Amino acid sequence: MCGIVGYIGDGNVYDILIKGLHRLEYRGYDSAGIALCAPDGSLNIYKSCGKVSNLEQHCKGKKLDAKVGIAHTRWATHGEPTDNNAHPHYSEDGNIALVHNGTIENYKVLKDALIEHGCTFHSETDTEVLVELIEYIRLKNNCSLVDAVRQALNEVVGAYAIAVIEKSNPDQIIAARKSSPLVIGIGKDEFFLASDATPFVEYTQNVVYLKDEEIAVIKKGEPLKLLNLENEEADVNITELQMSISQLEKGGFPHFMLKEIFEQPDTLRDCIRGRVIDGGKRVCLTGVLDNKEKFLNAKRIVIVACGTSWHAALLGKYLLQDMARIPVEVEYASEFRYSNPVLDDRDIVIAISQSGETADTLAAIQIAKEMGAFVYGISNVVGSSIPRETHSGTYIHVGPEIGVASTKAFTGQVMVLTLLAIAVGRLRGNLSEEEEERLGGYISRIPELVEDVLKLNDKIKHLSLIYTYARNFLYLGRGYSYPVALEGALKLKEISYIHAEGYPAAEMKHGPIALIDAEMPSVIIAPNDHLYEKIVNNVQQVKARQGSVIAIVTRGDTEIANIADHVLDIPEVPECLTPIITSVPLQLLSYYIAINKGKNVDMPRNLAKSVTVE
Ligand code: F6R
Repeated sequence: MCGIVGYIGDGNVYDILIKGLHRLEYRGYDSAGIALCAPDGSLNIYKSCGKVSNLEQHCKGKKLDAKVGIAHTRWATHGEPTDNNAHPHYSEDGNIALVHNGTIENYKVLKDALIEHGCTFHSETDTEVLVELIEYIRLKNNCSLVDAVRQALNEVVGAYAIAVIEKSNPDQIIAARKSSPLVIGIGKDEFFLASDATPFVEYTQNVVYLKDEEIAVIKKGEPLKLLNLENEEADVNITELQMSISQLEKGGFPHFMLKEIFEQPDTLRDCIRGRVIDGGKRVCLTGVLDNKEKFLNAKRIVIVACGTSWHAALLGKYLLQDMARIPVEVEYASEFRYSNPVLDDRDIVIAISQSGETADTLAAIQIAKEMGAFVYGISNVVGSSIPRETHSGTYIHVGPEIGVASTKAFTGQVMVLTLLAIAVGRLRGNLSEEEEERLGGYISRIPELVEDVLKLNDKIKHLSLIYTYARNFLYLGRGYSYPVALEGALKLKEISYIHAEGYPAAEMKHGPIALIDAEMPSVIIAPNDHLYEKIVNNVQQVKARQGSVIAIVTRGDTEIANIADHVLDIPEVPECLTPIITSVPLQLLSYYIAINKGKNVDMPRNLAKSVTVE
């Protein structure tokens, strides 16, 4: 949801910022822009609608030498994605430039007041209000930029990660955050800042994650200084990154999404490392061990998440109810916050988020904490807001996910939920030692089983050609396969723009069956589980209405194989582990259909990877 990057040092400012923007483009790609303070004292700002490559074209032949700079790639909230609305925004006197990720909720009130003071505005953005407010305060109070930023932020309601530079004082960047991420990289005589660490991973491993309402004063040749909004100095805690440059490259794959699908054997290996021990016999999750009392006394679990993470959450319900026998409710984080939730200190709220920055999920966590619940986070991005805001939790450890459509994070989330269900089930005496050992054995083999499923790649690529021009799809599943159906449909929708619906297969007869005809393909997830015979009936019902069926079945299946138009077979695993296996062919199917349609799978229209606005 908008990416910001900044640099001050002796390196090539323009090159570092543009490369950084490319790495952050997954956060938004409606427009991009850059502001550079040149050695001759000028402030040069270039912006362009569309992707970062358009900005690069636009910058050709322009004055690009600089001592310091900031840049932005936008996911539009206030105002259309035009050149005018692109960041950086600058004060009317041309003295300061600012990039912003977030939303200024009281921008209208502030704007009206500034207009009364004689300011004029040139864009429809909330950000321009902030830049004018800072410059207005700086001039009125004759104060430094950092003071003006601090005073302005005290008047602002909303979310922000900002970076500000000043023409008359080009040796510094002032940055601040509230509810939107910002991380500072500390190099030798140079500083980087960005929405996440990916833009500077090859330059430094030393980072400072800015906290909410902290302001950073970044000056070349001086130690980093942090202030709070009351102007008190805060401690600078430097941590070491756990990220390598190879994780940010496509590694020979045409798209990040395909790379991330194929990485899943490795990412699942990383996810279970140290958590399935004693040769696969025991499951050990520190987050559960450290909070035994909470999990033993819990009367209910509520899981909050959005999008793909919500589908993982729904699987969490099946897993936890099956193995731990605790009642589980699953809520869209965006609805939970407005549903007047009823919670107390015997409730556990689990928040799931790949990015760890989703605004709706963060807001749900806040409410849960206020009501006394114990809040447990399941996230991917180390150091992001959700792990910091929750009482405890587990990282999925699948490495940076750059493709906008989530793939390896989903299987990582489901794996962590499976481990959590086993650990809590054992703790509460609802899962036997033998069952833990049986499941642990299969979990240890999951990476190789996913490798096996990936061998379906060529078959799925071929199959995708038959269905590229279908206008609608149904995805059907029951039990553990129902959330997989929802996730399969979402993957197809978001990257190929084909309308797809996921349904519990038995619900079909209550309405959606009316849609079925020869033009409506159904993807039916039908592994060999306790609902198999029932789903055979659903396949028959679709076939009886001339619908074509692509079925995901367990290897050796003959019944569905005889009636479906196409089958994709997967290795046999216990029912609770089928989602990790069955979701992989659906990821590949959506990828190839989108590729056949010529879509940009890594950057689908209107989407952004990290949704830091409400
Ligand atoms: C879909 C997708 C989104 C995210 C959702 C939540 O492929 O990626 O639906 O799952 O925006 O994001 P996180 O998990 O970062 O909270």
